[in-house]
Amino acid sequence: MRARDYSATETLRDGRTVEIRALRPEDRAGLLAAVGRTSDKSLYRRFFGFKRGFTDQEINFYVNVDFVNHVALVAQLNEDGQSVIVGGSRYIIGQPGQAEVAFAVDDAHQGQGIGTALMRHLVALAHHSGLRELVADVLPGNTAMMKVFGTSGLVTTTRQGPDAIHVVLQLA
Ligand SMILES: CC(C)(COP(=O)(O)OP(=O)(O)OC[C@H]1O[C@@H](n2cnc3c(N)ncnc32)[C@H](O)[C@@H]1OP(=O)(O)O)[C@@H](O)C(=O)NCCC(=O)NCCS
Repeated sequence: MRARDYSATETLRDGRTVEIRALRPEDRAGLLAAVGRTSDKSLYRRFFGFKRGFTDQEINFYVNVDFVNHVALVAQLNEDGQSVIVGGSRYIIGQPGQAEVAFAVDDAHQGQGIGTALMRHLVALAHHSGLRELVADVLPGNTAMMKVFGTSGLVTTTRQGPDAIHVVLQLA
């Protein structure tokens, strides 16, 4: 399956079903709504600063991905008959063979296994595309993110930087 058509179904800890699928340009509003439901603390951990408003240019960057150098997945739940985007993950290739990953799940849906599922499917796509390494910077105290990396099954090295922990995950 092409990355831009990717779709998989997972069962959450509470028994509900979540779809992990490729981000689509029409997800713009759903993505912004998810940001609106996400706490300052979570946004800080994702963007390394207090971030709530985004310029059109930034939104375009996050929404219009090429699925080659920039691959993005969303987690979509059915809530009260509505499809709701509750989280997402992405990788962006920074240098040949290496991509930086980032994740966010809105606060009400954290701890249900969505981050772990997003990681598993992002890794599958990264593997498929022939990447060798995934990297991330994680702020101190972000146990949830470190757990998601720790349960990925990938060989992981960490290095303490001045502000964040630099994580390298080996794909090959
Ligand atoms: C990091 C993040 C994506 C993980 O997503 P998630 O859906 O909560 O992850 P999971 O449900 O798969 O949980 C993974 C582990 O973290 C734990 N966890 C989840 N939320 C937690 C929280 N707020 N505090 C402590 N532990 C938490 C889970 O219990 C689980 O551990 P366990 O397997 O021992 O029970 C999510 O917490 C988030 O969006 N955080 C804010 C943004 C961020 O930090 N992004 C990372 C930037 S690189």
